[in-house]
Amino acid sequence: MTEILPANMQNIATAARALKDGRLVAFPTETVYGLGGNALNDRAVAAIYEAKNRPDFNPLIVHVPNFRVAAHFVRVSEAASLLAQRFWPGPLTLILPRRADCKLSLLLSAGLDTVAVRVPHHPVAQTLLTACEFPLAGPSANPSGRISPTRPEHVVDGLAGKVEFVLDGGACKVGVESSVLDLTGERPILLRPGAVLAEDIAAVLGEDVLTEQTSLDAGVRKSPGQLSSHYAPHLPLRLNAATAEAGEILIGFGPVAPNGARNLSASGDLTEAAANLFAYLRAADDPTYRGIAVMPIPDSGLGLAINDRLRRAAAPR
Ligand code: TXA
Ligand code: MG
Repeated sequence: MTEILPANMQNIATAARALKDGRLVAFPTETVYGLGGNALNDRAVAAIYEAKNRPDFNPLIVHVPNFRVAAHFVRVSEAASLLAQRFWPGPLTLILPRRADCKLSLLLSAGLDTVAVRVPHHPVAQTLLTACEFPLAGPSANPSGRISPTRPEHVVDGLAGKVEFVLDGGACKVGVESSVLDLTGERPILLRPGAVLAEDIAAVLGEDVLTEQTSLDAGVRKSPGQLSSHYAPHLPLRLNAATAEAGEILIGFGPVAPNGARNLSASGDLTEAAANLFAYLRAADDPTYRGIAVMPIPDSGLGLAINDRLRRAAAPR
């Protein structure tokens, strides 16, 4: 059985011991819940892939408490240092070259010579990382391809029996996964949009940031993990819907949504919509319906991340 435990000091200490022994614990971050395992331990990392049923060409993010610890494992450039100062702790993941003496599990980066690192902001994640004294591999705590968890119960829904326990940090404030920025090439590429926006990164770097599409157009490689079908509910998803068709459940957005629709944000606030997105998709994923229809979301700011997740959730499986 997988229990949900309050994230007090005692349970965080228990989590740190379990993780040290190579077992898996789910923990809250400000974006989504992570499936944590000791990132120095190949067996623990293998257990994560197994629990998520994740194709092993898709590397994992490593969580560290601060920039100084990140620099033990990856080569940090001037750009990385500037971005870390501005956005860490927070919802930005940086792809950086592995250091030659890097002790992280090779399986974690799935054969690449780069590593995705992130310093989460959530106080429980911070306390856990400090208690552990080793970095945590932490993909989103859901079966591969399914909707990411933003509440502890979502983790239990998808991974019951596969994870020791879930530390309860309440609902995730951001609600969509971190922005993933590749700093290993000539130009910075935003591989996954998130709450840290391309324009904010560009402002810090004083340089344009390519997005997945612009880098594709330019013939630059993209993230191994950006499978086109992802974040998927069981029901088919229809985007940019004005109303529900027969048998569909409607997820609304903004003041124009019909009364009675579940509304991601009645006032049209994108931050609120992102925080609600995955919980609403889960709630709508009910086999008494034929499909889920979602109203249009503006394609700017955090709307870029929301639409990215929705497009993948709607992609052919
Ligand atoms: O918000 C988040 O980032 C959450 C929380 C738990 O921290 N974690 C998360 O991890 O979303 P995950 O494993 O579900 O997503 C990691 C993404 C994938 O798209 C993966 O392909 C990409 O980062 N990635 C990881 N390592 C990479 C690498 N070395 N090069 C390129 N992309 C990488
Ligand atoms: Mg994921």
